[in-house]
Amino acid sequence: MTGTDALDPAALAAPAELKGVRIHQGLLPAATQAALVGDIRAVIRAAPLMRPVTPGGREMSVRMTAAGDFGWITDRTGYRYERRHPSGVPWPPIPARVRAIWDAVAGTDRAPECCLVNWYADGARMGLHQDRDEGDFGCPVVSISLGDDALFRIGGTEAPRPTRSVWLRSGDVAVMGGAARMAWHGVDRTRHGSSALLPGGGRINLTLRVVTPPDAGAA
Ligand code: SIN
Ligand code: FE2
Repeated sequence: MTGTDALDPAALAAPAELKGVRIHQGLLPAATQAALVGDIRAVIRAAPLMRPVTPGGREMSVRMTAAGDFGWITDRTGYRYERRHPSGVPWPPIPARVRAIWDAVAGTDRAPECCLVNWYADGARMGLHQDRDEGDFGCPVVSISLGDDALFRIGGTEAPRPTRSVWLRSGDVAVMGGAARMAWHGVDRTRHGSSALLPGGGRINLTLRVVTPPDAGAA
């Protein structure tokens, strides 16, 4: 098993903070990053990446899949969590190494129920949005960056603007929790080829979420 020994202790203890979002810069050492890429490749083999479409009919530039009890889906019908990949297969389990990162930074006893996988090829971006399809806003969203640098924009919790931006690098882990749980956020662009982690460049972002309401979590 992997535990906090696979994480950088200084980055774990002393996150940076921007508009209430905690950013553990360099939390994941190179070997951990490489192992995570292997884990995510296995997830993608089981649940292939999709090109999501917004309810308004616009194709998103990122490709997506998920692991865990739930995957986040968007199509013409709307945004929602589903228990299966559109192909009908259940989502693969959240890899143990990914779960260990949640346990180290999330600050909650609840387990993550969705690990959304976002793939950014060159030119992909994500518009400003809030993560608000979940049932327990008392739990944070934990975001793991692998591969190319990404310009991450953080807005307010009541309104998207004003914003501040920060470059997220491979191995950084951001925590949107507490007052910042409902912060607007997005990715303006990536710096293609800035990381050697993925052959040919590109960026993987993993976001871990608790999906069900608090009561449903007590088993
Ligand atoms: C997201 O908000 O789902 C993705 C954020 C990121 O790619 O850093
Ligand atoms: Fe998000």
